[in-house]
Amino acid sequence: MPAPRRRPLSAERLETLAALAGISRLELTIEKVVLGGDGLARWRDLPIFVPRAAPGDVVKARITERRPSYARAEIEQVISAGPLRREAPCPFYARCGGCQLQHIEDEAQLGLKAAAALETLRRLGGIDPAQLKRCVVEEPVAGRRWGYRVRAQVHVEQDEDGATGVGFRRRRSHDLIRVDRCPVLAPALEARLPELPRLLDEGAQAGQARPGRLSLATDGLEEDSLVVSAPPLGVLPGGELEIELLGRRLTFDARCFFQAHGGLLEALSRSAVGAFEGETAVDLYAGVGFFTLGLADRYRSVTAVEGESMAARYARNNLRLNGLRHCQVERGAIESWVDGRTGGEGLRPGLDRVLVDPPRVGLSWNVRRALLRAAPARLTYVSCDPATLARDLGELTRDFDLESITFFDIFPQTAHLETVVQLRRRG
Ligand SMILES: C[S@@+](CC[C@H](N)C(=O)[O-])C[C@H]1O[C@@H](n2cnc3c(N)ncnc32)[C@H](O)[C@@H]1O
Repeated sequence: MPAPRRRPLSAERLETLAALAGISRLELTIEKVVLGGDGLARWRDLPIFVPRAAPGDVVKARITERRPSYARAEIEQVISAGPLRREAPCPFYARCGGCQLQHIEDEAQLGLKAAAALETLRRLGGIDPAQLKRCVVEEPVAGRRWGYRVRAQVHVEQDEDGATGVGFRRRRSHDLIRVDRCPVLAPALEARLPELPRLLDEGAQAGQARPGRLSLATDGLEEDSLVVSAPPLGVLPGGELEIELLGRRLTFDARCFFQAHGGLLEALSRSAVGAFEGETAVDLYAGVGFFTLGLADRYRSVTAVEGESMAARYARNNLRLNGLRHCQVERGAIESWVDGRTGGEGLRPGLDRVLVDPPRVGLSWNVRRALLRAAPARLTYVSCDPATLARDLGELTRDFDLESITFFDIFPQTAHLETVVQLRRRG
């Protein structure tokens, strides 16, 4: 493939870059927060991305990366704080890579993230601006901002002295930041953190292999909610959790993907499933059947497709537990399933509804093509990455009209957010 042609740099930009080459520190005023959580400042005509910056901050920053179209800088000193800046509540925030927005007031975070996501949809996707204008952007939905996370992976490490520690990756590094608290975790999960090193040591003494990573999950936001671990660890059992979701039973375990914010599960499900109904629905990237259960109430036949065998097993179990005989689970890579290459019919024309909830990479080109070809009457896109969502909508809106966009703060204190987009086949 020929390399993409670069546009020549303007004389103004060349001058800016030459001037910047002789400078290592700058005073910058932060304009806004962009996708990924960095603050954006401008020096002459050059955008400069500054992590851990808040809108309105005036900072002294050290340049860490210079590129023709942007630069990066790290704050050395906040000269004057913008109106949304606060002291980060977590003592690990400065070093830990888990959160990106703790230095910004809780109530302001979602608005900043939603604005950055909308800007990404406008600029990146090639979505018809008139369509975006007609589309209803719903009030963003937030729940509790702390103690919300019902699922987490912690890394395990031994230092040179053999002492075991658990924690999260350091910002922009693979090093471990050992933590004994993490206030975004659900209370029952956070309470377990200090005892994990001891449990790991006891496991090792009993002959258990020391894992490099532990997956933890809980069934609620109470202090005494049940916690499970993968692999199982001493008093922390492995095995199944069960929650109630919109009157249905939903089981999963620490090995499966599960929506992270324990307080927004019902709102997210209701928003994605919506008030639509019909004969046939397909739930792609179904996981343990989180959205399948809601679709089951509204469609006479629902097919859930999931690639991971553990999650597909739980999805089948969840259909059985709830007596949903009109729903079925097919296991396979979506890229092959849509074209009928895993044995079934694939994504056929005439469907009333397709819901997609892909991982961060979004939809592959052949899944986008299959959706355009099958042209279901309604399409719901649940996304955890506005950049790939923008790319995919740029193509899908050739044949589908955008109806509504709803942002969910399912990862408060971080730069991430979940987006539910409702689309309708044109014509
Ligand atoms: C973002 S999760 C959504 C799961 C589910 N919809 C939920 O809300 O719990 C994406 C799911 O897609 C599955 N997955 C990722 N890539 C896939 C692929 N190429 N083919 C099939 N399944 C895939 C993952 O195993 C995971 O369960």
